[in-house]
Amino acid sequence: MELKRVLEKYPKRQDCLIDVLLDVQNAKPTHHLTEDELKDVSDYLGLPESHVFSVVSFYSFFSMTPRGKHIVQVCRDVPCYLNDDFNVLETLERTLDIKTGETTDDGLFTLEYSSCLGCCDQSPVMRVNDTVYGNLTVDKLRAIIAEHRSDDDA
Ligand code: FES
Repeated sequence: MELKRVLEKYPKRQDCLIDVLLDVQNAKPTHHLTEDELKDVSDYLGLPESHVFSVVSFYSFFSMTPRGKHIVQVCRDVPCYLNDDFNVLETLERTLDIKTGETTDDGLFTLEYSSCLGCCDQSPVMRVNDTVYGNLTVDKLRAIIAEHRSDDDA
């Protein structure tokens, strides 16, 4: 990915920050941002580096460490936490054989926490890449993971 090519798609406006950062992050198979990229983005948009770094650390959908092809994010805000009667996170840790924050050895899945995903009425909720899944059960959760695995085998 060429950072310059991504930046040139955007006007030099500070309100483009989140879109630019998402684009830079999603353009790479590792789905993460580096310090150098944040500095280049801050130069391009004319924003202080500290502001760009604080935005990246605030939002759970940004990462400064390399991640897998599929980013699995489990909502841990109050409604999801209260309605989680089988422990979504532990079930995923067992299914993927990794701890939260880790990536599977084959580079397919990274498991993370998330703040509210905006579907509290369907809690418990998780997101895989751009798709949000609600009303999770153990069977549903395992089927979602299996589906993403088989997509990659095809
Ligand atoms: S609290 Fe989980 S989606 Fe809102």
